[in-house]
Order: sequence, then C-alpha cells, then structure tokens
Amino acid sequence: MILSLDLKELSYDIVVEKGCLSIANKYLNLNRKVLIITDSGVPCEYSLMIKKQCLEGYIYTFNMGEENKCFETYKEILSYLIDKSFTRSDVIIAVGGGVVGDLSGFVASTYMRGIDFYNIPTTLLSQVDSSIGGKTAIDFNGVKNIIGAFYQPKKVLIDSNTLSTLDERLLSAGLAESIKMAATFNKELFDLIKNTNDLMDNIDEIIIESLKIKKYVVENDPFEKNLRRVLNFGHTIGHGIESSLNGKLYHGECVALGMLYFSSEEVKKELIKVLNKYNLPTSFEFDKCVAYNYIVHDKKVVGDYINVIMCESIGTFEIKKVQKCEIYKLLGGSNE
Ligand SMILES: NC(=O)c1ccc[n+]([C@@H]2O[C@H](COP(=O)([O-])OP(=O)(O)OC[C@H]3O[C@@H](n4cnc5c(N)ncnc54)[C@H](O)[C@@H]3O)[C@@H](O)[C@H]2O)c1
Repeated sequence: MILSLDLKELSYDIVVEKGCLSIANKYLNLNRKVLIITDSGVPCEYSLMIKKQCLEGYIYTFNMGEENKCFETYKEILSYLIDKSFTRSDVIIAVGGGVVGDLSGFVASTYMRGIDFYNIPTTLLSQVDSSIGGKTAIDFNGVKNIIGAFYQPKKVLIDSNTLSTLDERLLSAGLAESIKMAATFNKELFDLIKNTNDLMDNIDEIIIESLKIKKYVVENDPFEKNLRRVLNFGHTIGHGIESSLNGKLYHGECVALGMLYFSSEEVKKELIKVLNKYNLPTSFEFDKCVAYNYIVHDKKVVGDYINVIMCESIGTFEIKKVQKCEIYKLLGGSNE
C-alpha cells in the first residue's frame, strides 16, 4: 500500500509493504552517494541490506539511546558528510527508531541547507508516528527536542518485518501511540487493536490506519499551529511523568498513563482493557512535584492555562483549556 502525504511541493509517498527493505531501490533513488544513519541497537542487517542496493553507500552507526540524540552526534555526522564529500545531490537515509529518524532528519535539514532525506523506520512508534510529519530534532542542555526543524522526508519506507527483532515491551510502547490516535479519531481501529487475537496478523492494517490519521492531521496543520495538538492526547501529563522517571518507563508507556487523566469514565474503562491487554501501565508511582513542574513549563502552557486534549467517547476529541492548578489536583496534589 502506498499513501501519499499531500503537502503541495513537499508531498511524499509512504510505502507500507512487508519485505520492502530488500527492494528499496524500486522506491528510492539510490543511484548516488548515500549515507545510511543507524544506531547500535538496530540490527545491522537492515542497513547492510540497503547499502548493497546503493551505487555508493556508507553506514554511520552511533550509540543507541535518547542521550545520543544530541549535539555531539549531530556534529560528528556533519564531519563525516564533509569528509566523504557529500553534495546536495546526495541523500541521507535513517534506518532505525525515532531517535535515528529525528537526528538524521535534522542533519539532512541543515547540511548544505538541506539534502534529500528518506526515512526507514524500524520501531512501531516510528512506523505509526514519528517517521511522517517532518518534525526533526536533537536534545540540548537537558531539554528534549529543543533544537530542530520542520523538514519533510522525500519518501518513507515501512517494512513491518523489521518489528520481528523488536522486544515486546517496545512494541507495546509504540502501540500506545496507535491507541492514542484510535481513541481520538477512529473507533474501528480502536476495536481492532482491542479485539485482535494476534497483533502481528493485523500489524500492517494498524500501521496504515494510524498513518492515515497522522497524515490527515499533518496535511491540515503542517506546522503544529492547531489541529496537530490532538496528537498530544496523553502527552501533557505523559511527558511530565516521563521526565520524573528518568527513563524508567518508555515514552509510549507514559502516554498510556497520561491518556487516563483526560478521559471520561466510559473511555477510561475501554482504555484500561486495551492497555492491560498489551501490558501497558495503567498506574505507576512517580514524583508528582517533578512532573507538575515539567508540565507547567511546557510549550503548551498559555498564561495560567494549558490546552489539553479530552476524550469523552472513543473516536472523538475536544481541545480544552485547563487551569494549571487543576492539573496539580488531577495528579493527586491538594493545592498549588
Ligand atoms: N518526530 C516526531 O514526530 C516524533 C514523534 C514521537 C517521538 N519522537 C521521538 O522518537 C524517539 C523515540 O523513538 P523510539 O521509541 O523508536 O525509540 P528509539 O529510536 O530509541 O528505539 C528504541 C530502541 O530500539 C532499537 N531498535 C530500533 N529498531 C529496532 C528493531 N527493528 N529491532 C530491534 N531493536 C530495534 C533501537 O536501537 C533503540 O535501542 C524519541 O526521541 C522521541 O522524541 C519523534
């Protein structure tokens, strides 16, 4: 299946096809110098498979982990590109999860004021969410995604066979982003995730339906001015929890917890069923003050209010303004 993300002259195709990695050159122009960027946790067979299809391919591998989505790695890759005399007609390909995608996209957006970029996401989170939409970034001075650019890939290739090497907890954490999109946009998708007997039997359908939601949101709000905020369902408190736990839970697991704070009782019941099914957390001990401080310094805060996404019934959403002190109460604190 090929989806087209329509952004006028920045439009691109998203290919979702099992086994497409082995025929990448059918979809990508690899008849040039290619830098494949990956990290040490991504099985190297995926990068090697792409490299052998390139006219002149190079692989740059950095150490896995969010802490390496940083300025140092960014600089090292730029130096590598200069050393190998990459020009503007060459291309960068990300092969990995959201960390590799965000960093590689940012390198591509700035090297020589922008060279072609293809994204080959290999985690479920990156396949359903981060590989499309053009948000690229690195972390800096302890702040996540603070330096970055909107820079769209020229093509995205999604091969769900790569998920066979991903551990189950990461798979579920990625699925939390699909559950988030389904809860706010698509009841059929929510029911499919809730009722399937074998996730991997339906994974391409889940990826495609999630991408259709993200595509719709990105096409209507490419620079995250308004509608795109809906993708933040579960993220306001989720990010706060994530920052208070220092990596104890994955991002998707924190989003799972975060969704429960802004759901009606009816939605909460449905969410808990589906989160339990995939071993995603529905409660977790965290430092409420640290989480609250993070939340009130977030970019979603406007004066005394925070814009949050509420889900009253599955498949729908509302954007609501909530006072900061309400958030504190929701977290379980009694006053500000
Ligand atoms: N740009 C966006 O719109 C956007 C959206 C959401 C999240 N993000 C970013 O995405 C990042 C998180 O992405 P993630 O959850 O993919 O984490 P990740 O990129 O760190 O990948 C998780 C781990 O899985 C390993 N891995 C990747 N593919 C594998 C495979 N097929 N088999 C085995 N192991 C594999 C990686 O080496 C890594 O250790 C964060 O930095 C977040 O800020 C970006």
